[in-house]
Amino acid sequence: MKIGLIGYGKMGKEIEKIAIERGHSIPLIIDAHNPGDLTSENLTNCDAVIEFTMPESAVRNYMACFEAGVPVVSGTTGWLHRQEEVHRKCRETDGTFFYASNFSVGVNLFFELNRKLAQLMADHPEYQVRMTEVHHTQKLDAPSGTAITLAESLLEILPGKKSWKNQAQVAADELSILSERVGEVPGIHTITYESEVDLIEITHSAKNRKGFALGAVLAAEFCLQNKGILSMKDLLKF
Ligand SMILES: NC(=O)c1ccc[n+]([C@@H]2O[C@H](COP(=O)([O-])OP(=O)(O)OC[C@H]3O[C@@H](n4cnc5c(N)ncnc54)[C@H](OP(=O)(O)O)[C@@H]3O)[C@@H](O)[C@H]2O)c1
Repeated sequence: MKIGLIGYGKMGKEIEKIAIERGHSIPLIIDAHNPGDLTSENLTNCDAVIEFTMPESAVRNYMACFEAGVPVVSGTTGWLHRQEEVHRKCRETDGTFFYASNFSVGVNLFFELNRKLAQLMADHPEYQVRMTEVHHTQKLDAPSGTAITLAESLLEILPGKKSWKNQAQVAADELSILSERVGEVPGIHTITYESEVDLIEITHSAKNRKGFALGAVLAAEFCLQNKGILSMKDLLKF
């Protein structure tokens, strides 16, 4: 298939490699140097677009894809406060929007593990829950989109937690998410339950960006047969 790339940074380049390996072509690459090429004419030459840019540009890019009638897969994080507006526009234009805060299959298994562990821990208030996430120093948003997805499940399942805060010291009904920015780390997420007598911890640690890039290409392939607002749950059939 013909895949357009919006964003040609660390992820865009990794996605290009995997898309070509899987037999796709890349007729369009847009980054901050050529935003003028984001025209309906150029977009309609693509079967789908994969967007990995920045929180400030993501929504504008999605809207351009909806207007052009081209399915858009995006992994950009930090724009979710505008999710309602994006979903509305997608529905109005009968478009296709596949978003994942994390495209790695392993992380999506970890999301399910997080939910299952939280269900077990919901009846054990003697355990205090907290989360840490570690990423490379160029990452713009904190906490990570993946950490927010994990936190949303915890808030839904754990009766004592009402909201999350990106700091170490929090109120009893808040979930602490601690963000660290270190070197070249692609992403580590840990959820810890600690009581007076022991500690239970689950961790997902990405070794490189390949897993994210492969998931994004699989999502673009999925958009050929599926329409509407899509997620990794649809792709992985959880
Ligand atoms: N969902 C996932 O699985 C996943 C995994 C990893 C990362 N991410 C997220 O993906 C995003 C990108 O990550 P990255 O590591 O690839 O970042 P990056 O290396 O900084 O790349 C960002 C790219 O976006 C381009 N850009 C900036 N403004 C633009 C605009 N208005 N239109 C088009 N392109 C624009 C930049 O162009 P210039 O280089 O010309 O400035 C650069 O090529 C981040 O939000 C990150 O959190 C998600």
